[in-house]
Amino acid sequence: MTKKNYKRYTITSALPYANGPLHIGHLAGAYLPADIFVRHLRLQKKDVVYVCGSDEHGAAITIKAKKEGTTPQAIIDQYNSQIKKSFEDFGIAFDIYHRTSSPIHHDLSKEFFLNLYEKDEFIEKFSDQYFDEEYQQFLADRYIIGTCPNCENDNAYGDQCEKCGTSLSPTDLINPRSTLSGNAPILKPTKHWYLPLDKYQPWLEKWLLEGKKDVWKTNVYGQCSSWLKQGLQPRSMTRDLDWGVDVPLEEAAGKKLYVWLDAPIGYISATKQWAIDKGKDWQLYWKQQPNEEDNSCLIHFIGKDNIVFHCITFPSILHAHGDYILPEQVPANEFLNLEGDKLSTSRNHAVWLHEYLEAFPGKQDELRYVLTSIMPETSDSEFTWKDYQARVNNELVAILGNFVNRVMILMHKYFDGKVLGGTKFTNQSLFDEVGSAYDGVETYLNDFKFRNAISTVMDVARLGNRYLTENEPWKTFKESPEEAREVLQNCLHIIAHMATLAQPFLPHTSEKIFGMLNMEKNVLNYDEEIIFADGHQLNPAALLFEKVEDAVVEAQIQKLANAKELNTMETKVSVLPAKENINFEQFTGLDIRVGTILEAEKVAKTKKLLKLKIDTGLDQRTVVSGIAEYFEPENIIGQQVSILVNLEPREIKGILSQGMILMAENSEGKLTFAAPVDNFAAGSVIR
Ligand code: MF3
Ligand code: ZN
Repeated sequence: MTKKNYKRYTITSALPYANGPLHIGHLAGAYLPADIFVRHLRLQKKDVVYVCGSDEHGAAITIKAKKEGTTPQAIIDQYNSQIKKSFEDFGIAFDIYHRTSSPIHHDLSKEFFLNLYEKDEFIEKFSDQYFDEEYQQFLADRYIIGTCPNCENDNAYGDQCEKCGTSLSPTDLINPRSTLSGNAPILKPTKHWYLPLDKYQPWLEKWLLEGKKDVWKTNVYGQCSSWLKQGLQPRSMTRDLDWGVDVPLEEAAGKKLYVWLDAPIGYISATKQWAIDKGKDWQLYWKQQPNEEDNSCLIHFIGKDNIVFHCITFPSILHAHGDYILPEQVPANEFLNLEGDKLSTSRNHAVWLHEYLEAFPGKQDELRYVLTSIMPETSDSEFTWKDYQARVNNELVAILGNFVNRVMILMHKYFDGKVLGGTKFTNQSLFDEVGSAYDGVETYLNDFKFRNAISTVMDVARLGNRYLTENEPWKTFKESPEEAREVLQNCLHIIAHMATLAQPFLPHTSEKIFGMLNMEKNVLNYDEEIIFADGHQLNPAALLFEKVEDAVVEAQIQKLANAKELNTMETKVSVLPAKENINFEQFTGLDIRVGTILEAEKVAKTKKLLKLKIDTGLDQRTVVSGIAEYFEPENIIGQQVSILVNLEPREIKGILSQGMILMAENSEGKLTFAAPVDNFAAGSVIR
């Protein structure tokens, strides 16, 4: 629970990497909740700045550029505009959407580094890191792949094995190779500057463990306390990379700041730029004020994968600097899953925001509504298209839309859309219930309970529907039109209050409703009184929401299934870099033949190896092959294979292996035989 009555608010949403478009998981995780929170504060006329921007440094960007055969600059320019547009389309109301490639950001990041450097905060240390001799560069963790020590996956990354999920460091990999050249990298010493998190641990225990207990969400507090329990280690704040903010030291030429050092500083540089544009004082929003009560309330909205950086690393940096405020709240969300599976950019298992709007033009509030209703506030949650359809049809259409529509139609039918006399609620209990909805939304949002908050808004629509149905103005109209008028005009008040309350959640819908009501302003502050003047003319009724048909959601489900299929078909070859050219002689040097498997058995004490006896047409020979995870020995007897027969014999697990059989391997490490399509005589040459 956040204290109330801060003088000012500084609200941030995680800076998205400018290396790909946004999907619903981003929106539900760090942007929608922040946007709702900020809009709510603004309706209370609070002094708020809400900042965000593209995170344009780090290996994520350079890897994407390499994959697409283009430059990092081209990548960030492309995705920065696409991401910015998606945010605008969905009404995410930043005061500024900035970029970490901007000069003001580079300057501020260097200033931070130098501030800590001059205070002697960093530990300077040489360590051995992988270096690609051919490309003459050190390799970021993601640039190294090798065999996972845990599950034997041959394509584990230097920071993580995506097959078994183990987090790794590059030196954990067996047979590491560089994704740049394909060669084995060498270890080479390099100097880096480390943030002594261990030194800040006692301070963190006081500020965080003591100070934030029962203040921060339990999912956030729990992760932090487990990090602290493990004991913090110094963390390198510099990298050997050619893309990022230069380390501002002569001896560090060619080195860059670690992206997780400069990215959160992006919140501050964005605020600086906003202040320049708007003639404000950025320091009021970030620096400690002489009187503590005048400090701004800093809140970081993020996803759970960013918790350690926002709760431990960045606060430590701010603390070491000394002039800055610390976050009051870090209301991180958990993850959103999609149709029973993790969202995945690389596997294209996602609902992309720009694609959603192509399929559902103008329906941003429908998505905002569903994502808020299922927001992963305390644990992971799941988006399914069937659930989307049900929530739109049974809630937005049947409750909210239906209520507004019935009232508008009846007002026009009986009274030509003209409000007479009744400028206020005439029903005290309605008035009270609506009043308590304001309190409910306030309390829930203050606790970051967005699901409860949005359902409180829907309760107002439910209330209206019930009141309308119970009082049946379409029946009473004939005998006492004044009674019918009173009921409908009370409903107009409910609608106006509902639209006011809905502004943070469904801003586009709210605007449409105010349009129908012909209210002067499209935005009403909470404390502005709702008054319909005598003779007020309503605008014609317009449809707020449409039913989602079965065929529409089935098409979306099919689209995800197609992506999945395409993905399993894709081979790893598309991910692995091409090898260097060889000449024709080198090619003809390979003696590859058609062979037939005669016998197969497991090699004892190994998971992967089979001992095969193969008829090569030349002879019958033994080959040890790493295919045991995919094939049962008894199922491959008689299988034709391609075999490299002139590979120098090697001893594997004490067995002399003579040659190698050729297998195709897809991105999931699945294997299939590369063999002739028709049954061919053993010994036939492959060339
Ligand atoms: N770009 C990071 C991510 O997408 C988040 C950066 S948040 C910031 O995970 F604090 F560093 F800006
Ligand atoms: Zn693994």
